[in-house]
Amino acid sequence: MRLLVASDHAAIELRQAVVDHLRGLGHAVEVSGPASGERADYPDQAALVAHAVAAGQADAGVLLCGTGIGMSIAANKVPGIRAALVHDVSTARLAAEHNRANILCLGARVLGPVVALDCVDAWLQTAFEARHQHRLDLITALERSA
Ligand code: RB5
Repeated sequence: MRLLVASDHAAIELRQAVVDHLRGLGHAVEVSGPASGERADYPDQAALVAHAVAAGQADAGVLLCGTGIGMSIAANKVPGIRAALVHDVSTARLAAEHNRANILCLGARVLGPVVALDCVDAWLQTAFEARHQHRLDLITALERSA
């Protein structure tokens, strides 16, 4: 898959672990965000990834900040984005199965690296269940009515 991974300054180390993991699995990964010692605002990073995913320039994205909350709030402002903040393998799996999340959000200050990488794997390995499509259509209608 073509994946985008971005973070703010609170998640640089976990971002690198996610990038290494995804590349090790054979995905084409582009990275955005600050280098060590730099700072970056999470809405800017979220916008970059969300617009690219919504435009089809990438298949999906992973956004990381301290809690994952700011990234998920910001990314979900972009039409077509279903960004899911997950905390464990179950929520990661369900984000794919029920919500067809096209962006996974992770919190580096609340998740250990092992759980975070397990979340990434669960999300990528789980297929969307078509019986939930109607609810996604309702979300799309909500976006259009805003
Ligand atoms: C940055 O200090 C922090 O606010 C950010 O990483 C994130 O947790 C926001 O939701």
